Amino acid sequence: MSKQSHNDLPIGVFDSGVGGLTVLKAIREELPNENLVYLGDTARLPYGTKTPASIERYATQAAAKLQEQGIKLLVVACNTASAVALDALRTALAPLVVIGVVEPGATAAVDARPGGEHLVLATEATVRLGAYKTAILAQDPEATVREQACEMLVSLAEEGWSDGHIAQAIVRRYLDEADGAALDTIILGCTHFPLLKGVIQEVADDGVTIVDSASTTADVVRAALEAQDAIRGGDAPGYSRLLATDGATRFARVGGQFLGHDLSYSDVEVVDL
Ligand code: DGL
Repeated sequence: MSKQSHNDLPIGVFDSGVGGLTVLKAIREELPNENLVYLGDTARLPYGTKTPASIERYATQAAAKLQEQGIKLLVVACNTASAVALDALRTALAPLVVIGVVEPGATAAVDARPGGEHLVLATEATVRLGAYKTAILAQDPEATVREQACEMLVSLAEEGWSDGHIAQAIVRRYLDEADGAALDTIILGCTHFPLLKGVIQEVADDGVTIVDSASTTADVVRAALEAQDAIRGGDAPGYSRLLATDGATRFARVGGQFLGHDLSYSDVEVVDL
């Protein structure tokens, strides 16, 4: 394959559902010429309450589907799959470069408040593995990290109830459970949670910085492509293909909120893994 043809290959991005579209959006903004193919495993959402064995199996199947499309790099735009299955995916797909979202999210938090007091909001599976704690302490041993599982925030984001008193009450309950006082940052350790950033900021104490991994992940993607001399050249804007394993209409309705523009069900191809 010529260099040009290789560089024209899309970047594969996958998540358990529509949440990873926040990462897709950041990659699109950072790298407007790149072709992108996104897979949301909506048939099996949520991953966050499943066992590690199931999450690894689902993630491996989703990644294999994207590899079948012909991709030059894979982004695991799901914190749960990144926390549980990143090593397994790297082994299964080598030499393809596989980038997760946990480390870039940890970098964003450490850069925002070095030596800070961080609270990670994430799924049960991500919290159980202490993935963010490990990643943050590896970069900043002076930091302190609390982690809070917030499954109901996934449902709120999926339902599009991203503001108002119900969202506020649920966020407040989770922050109380986590003893969300005296914090420097709240890390959105789930790709669904950027949709709730406004309400989390409202409920959190003044001065708390809300951090997510989308833009730092896009930076890591750029650096990885540059290191491989695999940036797509020219001026032509890249395409974005959207695949889902179930429910094109729902994917389009909810996904449009994550992308910040309307989607139609005909923009989404339903695929089997
Ligand atoms: N996208 C998942 C994550 O970032 C959350 C939704 C799920 O549980 O599958 O962890």
